Order: sequence, then structure tokens, then C-alpha cells
Amino acid sequence: MKLCMIGTGYVGLVSGVCFADLGNEVICVDNNIKKVNLLKKGKIPIYEPGLSELVVKNFKNKRLHFSSDLKKSVKESDIIFICVGTPTKKGGSSADLSQIYNVSKEISSSINKFKIVITKSTVPVTTGDEIEKILSKKNSKKKFSVVSNPEFLREGEAIRDFIYPDRVVIGTNDKKAGRILKNLYSPLISKGTSYLQTSRRAAELIKYASNAFLATKITFINEIANLCEKTDINVEDISIGMGLDKRIGGRFLRAGPAYGGSCFPKDTKAIISTADKFKTNLSVIKSVIKSNANRSKILLDRVYQILNKKIRKKKISFLGVTFKANTDDMRDSSSLKMIPWLSKKGAIINYFDPTGYKKEFSKLKNVSHKSTINSAIEGSDLVIIHTEWNDFKSINFKNLVKGKKFIIFDMRNIYSSTKIKDQGFKYFSVGK
Ligand code: UGA
Repeated sequence: MKLCMIGTGYVGLVSGVCFADLGNEVICVDNNIKKVNLLKKGKIPIYEPGLSELVVKNFKNKRLHFSSDLKKSVKESDIIFICVGTPTKKGGSSADLSQIYNVSKEISSSINKFKIVITKSTVPVTTGDEIEKILSKKNSKKKFSVVSNPEFLREGEAIRDFIYPDRVVIGTNDKKAGRILKNLYSPLISKGTSYLQTSRRAAELIKYASNAFLATKITFINEIANLCEKTDINVEDISIGMGLDKRIGGRFLRAGPAYGGSCFPKDTKAIISTADKFKTNLSVIKSVIKSNANRSKILLDRVYQILNKKIRKKKISFLGVTFKANTDDMRDSSSLKMIPWLSKKGAIINYFDPTGYKKEFSKLKNVSHKSTINSAIEGSDLVIIHTEWNDFKSINFKNLVKGKKFIIFDMRNIYSSTKIKDQGFKYFSVGK
């Protein structure tokens, strides 16, 4: 089976490379010729641990190809994965499906034999129905099958998540397509991955419901953390105590800054928008969005209290500014709310991130990028640990500080408070 991935963004590139590594022949297509040429040279446009090595390996052994010719690539392939972006519509909250439909039109005029056309992008319920309508205009229904196969990859863990997923979800009622796709995923299923075949609409909704539920878990524990701070309780004890109940599970119960990234904020809004369309009130998810939007304000208020209500001229260092560790992605990172607010209040901010300089802060007053942890925290009044990179997990603060001692606000609860306090620092964390 020859596969074609349309869109070499995060989903398309990672899935394409991993499918090639499992022995399939894969063409990754993108309309950005510059990007395609860079990929052919082994240059990867995104930061993802392990991805570059896999691209180079599979490109060399000729299982992985890159092209900007969509029509030719579709003609040569049996299974087409649509992996283009579905960002939030400008000025709205629903998903912008223009790229999905443009690509579908192009596929439509390139169907020369039976094709399985799959949405791997996160798409609202009924998008598959719309794609089917587009393809039907020029093709008989026997010539194609439209399937939903959502991806559940996390940035920074994508390769592992692809090879060892908790589940593979295939949304189709077409027996032939179901059989072919089960065979495609058989290397993962044989290692114990659960395989679930549902209706196409159900598969589309499983993806949104999963992301919304994970966002709910995080928001829930963040609110419990607020209560813990007032009642002298350690939120980590609560996460463990709750997580031991198998019905709840311990993952995604780490309190911290607002959740961010390219998925949870976008998908929680989009599922509300879909529900509105079908006159259904998803009040829990609406509250989650509201609570998360307020999260940065709560943490900034703590910063204000920690600094005795004096922010002007205070030197504040940020360790990590991306939305989480192991990614260079700044989309909806809580630092995008916190740093501008602190800068406006007159703070002097240095930041260090393992993925380097961020253009997002270039126009802010008194905000500087530093290329080492040491230079970022030198002379600080307050060090904020904003992301949980391994680089920040074993810092010997005592050895780094020459003069005055700074305060540490550990927003990811990386350190043990007693150890840091023993080194003579004032230490604050979340939910404790
Ligand atoms: C998320 C989902 O986890 C993936 O399953 C999904 O495929 C992906 O969205 C997507 O839709 O493409 P991702 O956005 O890469 O993956 O990041 P996560 O690891 O889920 O983290 C999201 C946010 O939640 C981050 O800001 C992170 O710091 C925060 N988080 C996560 C917490 O604050 N606490 C936790 O316990 C877990």
C-alpha cells in the first residue's frame, strides 16, 4: 500500500515518517515548495525529539518521499491522509475548514483508482460527510471511501505516541476500508494497541471529546490547587489520592499554569461551536474554557503577592516560555499572558528557553532573551520556573548565586520545597 500524507505540519510529518518506518512507502506532500526542499535535505521545520533521525533514515532508504505535486502524489497512492491545519476561524471559535475542503477538491480530480481518503486532522463532526459530497461530484462512490482516523500525538512525545498509542480509532462503516486500515495498523495492534472501529462521526467526536476531557482534568486540578493553597494541603497528595482510583487515573492531574498549545484551546472552543450548531449546551466545557482563561491572572496575582505588591523595577527571570517542555511551540503558552503583563507593570524580565529566542517578546519593553540559565537568573529578584524541561530539574541554585538570594516560584512543582528552603531560598510552588 502506498500512502500519501497531505500537509507536512506536525501531524502529517510525524505520522508519515512513522508509517514509513513501519515499512510503508509514503509520499509527504506540501504546497510550500521551500519546506519540501528543506525536508529533502533532512532539515525539519518543527522541534520534535527523534524526528530528524527518522526522516533522514527513511528518506535514505527511499521509503519516504517529499513532493509539492498533490495531484500526482494522490494518483500514485492508495491511502490519502489529509493532515492540513484546522485553526480557529479568525474572529470566531469554530474550526476553519478551508484547507480541508481545498485539498478535498484537488483530491477529487485525481482519483484514478479506488482510494481511501482519511481525515487525520482534527475535524468537527460531519466534516467527513462534506468531504464525501465534494468527492462525489466528480467520482462514483465505488471509487473512494472517506474515513476518520484521528491522531492522539502529544508534541514532544509524538514518535513514542505513534508507535505505542493507547488506541487506534477508525471511523468508517465501509468493510473494505476497515479491513485495509486494520492491516495498515497491524504492527501496532500486534503489540497490544486497542483498535476501535466506529462510525465516522463518532471517530470525529472521540477526538474532540478526548481533548476536552483532558483539558477538564487539568482545569479541575488547577482549581483544587487554588483551594489547597488556602488550606495548607499539598495538591500532589490530592492528585495521587484521586489518581489511585482506576476510574479517575493519575495522568493529566498535574497542577500548573493554564493549559496551552495548538490543540486544547482550539479544540475546546471548536466543540462548543459544533454543539451550538446542533443546539446542545456543553456547559462543563464552557466553564473549563473560562476557568483556564482566568488561570494566568491567578498565577500573576500570586507573583504580585510574592513580590510584596511591588513589581516595578523587579528583576524577574523565566525558565522556559513554551507551552510545555520538549517543544518550541509558543501557541497559547501562558507566558504570552504573563510576560507582557509583568513588562507593562515595569518588571525587568530575562528569559531562557532550551529552544532559544522567541520573536513573540521582541517588542516588549525590558524583556531580554538570555542564552544560558546562569545569565538568565543572575541578579534576579524572582525566578519563575514556567516549563518542566529536564534542563531545569537539577539546578544547583546555591552554586549559581553569588550575591543576594532570589525567590523561586516553581509553577510546575519540580522541586521539593524543603530542599530548596534548606539552601536558603524562599520557595513557592503551585497548590501547596
Ligand atoms: C494534546 C493531547 O494530549 C494529544 O493527545 C492530542 O493528540 C493533541 O493535543 C492534539 O490534539 O493534537 P499536546 O497539545 O501536544 O497534546 O500537549 P499535552 O501534553 O496534552 O499538554 C497540553 C497542555 O496541558 C500543556 O500546556 C501542558 O503543560 C498542560 N498539562 C498537561 C498540565 O498542565 N497538566 C497535566 O497534568 C498535563
